[in-house]
Amino acid sequence: MSKRHLTFICQNCGAAASRWQGKCEACGEWNTLSEEGAERPAGPGRKPGRGRLFELQPLAGEAHEAPRLPTGIAEFDRVTGGGFVRGSVLLMAGDPGIGKSTLLIQTTAALARAGHRAVYISGEEAVGQVRLRAERLGLRDAAVELASETSVEDIIATVSEKQVPKLLIIDSIQTMWTDTVESAPGTVTQVRGAAQALIRFAKKHGSAIILVGHVTKDGQIAGPRVVEHMVDAVLSFEGEGSHQFRILRAVKNRFGPTDEIGVFEMTGAGLREVSNPSELFLSERDLGSPGTAVFAGIEGTRPLLVEIQALVAPSSLGTPRRAVVGWDQSRLSMVLAVLEAHCGVRLGGHDVYLNVAGGMRINEPAADLAAAAALVSSLAHAPLPADAVYFGEVSLSGAIRPVAQSAARLKEAAKLGFARAVVPEAARADGDGGLKVTDVGSLASLVADIAANGSLNQAGKTAGQDG
Ligand code: TYD
Ligand code: MG
Repeated sequence: MSKRHLTFICQNCGAAASRWQGKCEACGEWNTLSEEGAERPAGPGRKPGRGRLFELQPLAGEAHEAPRLPTGIAEFDRVTGGGFVRGSVLLMAGDPGIGKSTLLIQTTAALARAGHRAVYISGEEAVGQVRLRAERLGLRDAAVELASETSVEDIIATVSEKQVPKLLIIDSIQTMWTDTVESAPGTVTQVRGAAQALIRFAKKHGSAIILVGHVTKDGQIAGPRVVEHMVDAVLSFEGEGSHQFRILRAVKNRFGPTDEIGVFEMTGAGLREVSNPSELFLSERDLGSPGTAVFAGIEGTRPLLVEIQALVAPSSLGTPRRAVVGWDQSRLSMVLAVLEAHCGVRLGGHDVYLNVAGGMRINEPAADLAAAAALVSSLAHAPLPADAVYFGEVSLSGAIRPVAQSAARLKEAAKLGFARAVVPEAARADGDGGLKVTDVGSLASLVADIAANGSLNQAGKTAGQDG
């Protein structure tokens, strides 16, 4: 049994195994192992055991300062950190149908219009289909070079015939295949081999390349996960199917920040940049109903106001439901536990639903206070003031802890017409931004304030009866 017979590859994580197993030992996924041919060493015709000599370079020397290639699409450039870096490879991952191809054809057109050579290779659509879309998007005049191809060697040979393109789009990496690998297209080994060849091309010639990767849950098509560690940046394009908002987020970025987001709106004429997302996220607010609180958040350098909606309703189930969309499930559990333990709010007999409006996803602990306010408001049937924003982190002791960038949050709230803010005690030190600021030291005092306006006692009693 020699090691060269490792031919079962996990389609989720890329781990190799010598025999078929139901469960991948590396990532724990089930039914993801599939048989693949072994990778042939790169550089065919080379004598084994003898490497080529190359020149070692001193650290001090001529450096290519990473020149940026801005797209002119501000929301995109913000996420990459000011444009594409020469020779860098970027993976754009997202669910099928989210708008990756649309965004990238718009990006290529923007660069082509600025006079850069931009090439768009689609492995999924025929040239005619891409053209049809470009026509609908009003991009016909842009000098984008198109092709429908899937062989990486052919693509590299073709684009390097002339001056290499500044930007090369590969839509998608799962459809590409390379001669150096024997496996079928779409398998992990092929995806990895194709990505390797393209990355080598980018580094050598200084083109920026964007690889599109579909995220698929089932093991049929190789997920782009194996490519993630090979590329310079991973952007994820997200959105809820039913919403028109799309959020571009850097998951990894060797040349820029990872906390910035770009916000787009999918319209009949393609993706439109949203330069003031707070306005958009708050545009469909349900004023005056209990269970909603506006959270003044920060995404990267930009303040972002979103509505947090909660529904707390008596449960008929033995184990009540806890469902959350757009926020962290364990964060919700923590806030619920603190409400029970320190604020006398009994939720054991209630189903709890929490939703961040507009398809936005929040990662900040600063949202704790807004989530708690929405939950208590729903339970007590007490609408929160429509002109108030909330932010603050809840600690396990029930205290409200200060969060970063209070001044920016308050300023954005004031700009959008809010008059009040409910914040941690230290937040006011940075100035109140013109708002009436109420500081809360503990979650219990917030609960008491909200309950005073509603019927929490009654709701509490109902909970007691149910339990
Ligand atoms: P697409 O870019 O093909 O998605 P992906 O490449 O991520 O699979 O986008 C497909 C969806 O976008 C499709 O459901 C239709 C919608 N769409 C619009 O709403 N407006 C438009 O102008 C375009 C081109 C697409
Ligand atoms: Mg597509």
